[in-house]
Amino acid sequence: MAMADAVAFFEERAADWEQTCYPDPVRRRLEALIVEFDVQPRACVLDVGTGPGVLLPYLRQRVGAGGRICAFDLAFNMVRQAANKALAPQDGVMQADVHCLPFQSGVFDRIVCFAAFPHFAQPALALQEMRRVLSPGGRVVIAHLMSRAELARHHGTHASVARDVLPSHAKMRLLFEAAGLVLDSIEDLPGRYLAKGTHAVETGVSGLDRNGVRSARTQSSVPGAGPHRTGLRAAGEKGRPFGPLPWQPGPAPCGGRV
Ligand SMILES: C[S@@+](CC[C@H](N)C(=O)[O-])C[C@H]1O[C@@H](n2cnc3c(N)ncnc32)[C@H](O)[C@@H]1O
Repeated sequence: MAMADAVAFFEERAADWEQTCYPDPVRRRLEALIVEFDVQPRACVLDVGTGPGVLLPYLRQRVGAGGRICAFDLAFNMVRQAANKALAPQDGVMQADVHCLPFQSGVFDRIVCFAAFPHFAQPALALQEMRRVLSPGGRVVIAHLMSRAELARHHGTHASVARDVLPSHAKMRLLFEAAGLVLDSIEDLPGRYLAKGTHAVETGVSGLDRNGVRSARTQSSVPGAGPHRTGLRAAGEKGRPFGPLPWQPGPAPCGGRV
């Protein structure tokens, strides 16, 4: 979807999005899906394309008092809805574009992109940005409450989003690899799509890829990797205060302005 169309489509629907899209039976399925996100207590989590913040209460519960959540969306009316959700002082909700994230590099343990990925105008760039802000060994999950085929049929009923589909599994794998992410798994079943990846860590051993390009080899995780290795992103072991917020006013690393 072109960027301006994307904004208009979702701006118009923000006020009643959650009520329309998440009646109780769907909410129960969402609650089951969230378990798969493997969000740990004290994690620093980024909710990409948060919409009205339907995930936020669940993520807040999972990360607990020692965790931190940042949620963003391109549509301002969606952000306004999300900002009404009960959050902790260390959390944040903001308007931002996934293609140019206003965050420091390497700060998030988990990135959750729920029901949003097909709408991104440049999926390769979106994944690159997600990888940039993910900590080494951190994980990203792209999730839907529909299979890839079901989602294509569903979007097909709305002219504005009819072309917003999930890439094939092979294409998704290439997108992950190109972004420096290892695609750990894709689950594509009726009522559920989950693509999970890990920030690839360079081993420093170079090799030739299938195109003959020399590059550093990567592995999918680092021993001992887990939330809050630096202590900067969340409350420390012995109740140290939270570190600085992972976003800062000023130029975004990709050249845009925060
Ligand atoms: C189908 S809605 C899902 C919202 C929310 N995750 C939910 O499930 O209720 C997709 C969201 O992606 C957002 N979006 C589309 N393009 C975006 C972009 N480039 N950057 C950030 N958010 C974007 C839209 O504004 C919209 O709120």
